[in-house]
Amino acid sequence: MAIRNQLPPWHERMRLANGREILIRPIRPEDAAPLRASFPLLGPEEVRLRYHHAMSELSEAETASFTQPDPRTDFVLVAAEPYTPGEALVGAVARAHTVPGTKDAEFAILVSRYVHGMGLGRHLLQRLARWAKGRGLERLTGDVLQENEPMLHLADSLGFQIDRDNSKETLVRVVLDLSETEGDSTEVEAA
Ligand SMILES: CC(C)(COP(=O)(O)OP(=O)(O)OC[C@H]1O[C@@H](n2cnc3c(N)ncnc32)[C@H](O)[C@@H]1OP(=O)(O)O)[C@@H](O)C(=O)NCCC(=O)NCCS
Repeated sequence: MAIRNQLPPWHERMRLANGREILIRPIRPEDAAPLRASFPLLGPEEVRLRYHHAMSELSEAETASFTQPDPRTDFVLVAAEPYTPGEALVGAVARAHTVPGTKDAEFAILVSRYVHGMGLGRHLLQRLARWAKGRGLERLTGDVLQENEPMLHLADSLGFQIDRDNSKETLVRVVLDLSETEGDSTEVEAA
């Protein structure tokens, strides 16, 4: 079957600065196997910055929680090779999760070092913000380790408010007011 028949209705192609073509698309259950297989290729620092603790593998339960997101509350995007889900390597995962009883969505993101510094982090976070705004949410929030300067710079440049004042906390909360962001998200829908 041609790959276009296996892709979700919403996806976009992007050419990275290194010339590689990648697909930005909602995650698929089939991405679980490549994600678990490639997890050991991540550096310990990348894992710590994303999960806030050391991890040697992605458990099946953890993998299922983001490869089979609940479309009512969650939105998960990947940047992957332009191949069939399940065969494509995944270079980045970005997730937004609606916090029950609030108008907030919390994000988490990991762009692997093989493709970092090429604009993927910015692009994926903008897509999460559009999705959250399109769902009628008011804020996109994240908890970032205080020493994670790349993420804090990125958040700052996207207009997130950053509470750096509480020096006793290891985590810094970043908050994007979605009323101040552009557009709606009619084209960004989960599969
Ligand atoms: C933080 C992270 C998401 C950035 O992704 P990325 O794809 O490399 O970022 P981009 O290429 O889109 O860069 C966007 C901005 O991020 C900031 N940034 C990225 N790398 C940086 C670095 N090494 N130092 C300082 N700022 C940096 C800059 O503001 C940059 O904007 P510019 O290119 O206009 O200067 C990525 O490094 C990552 O996944 N890190 C490990 C996991 C993590 O920290 N997750 C966040 C907690 S949930």
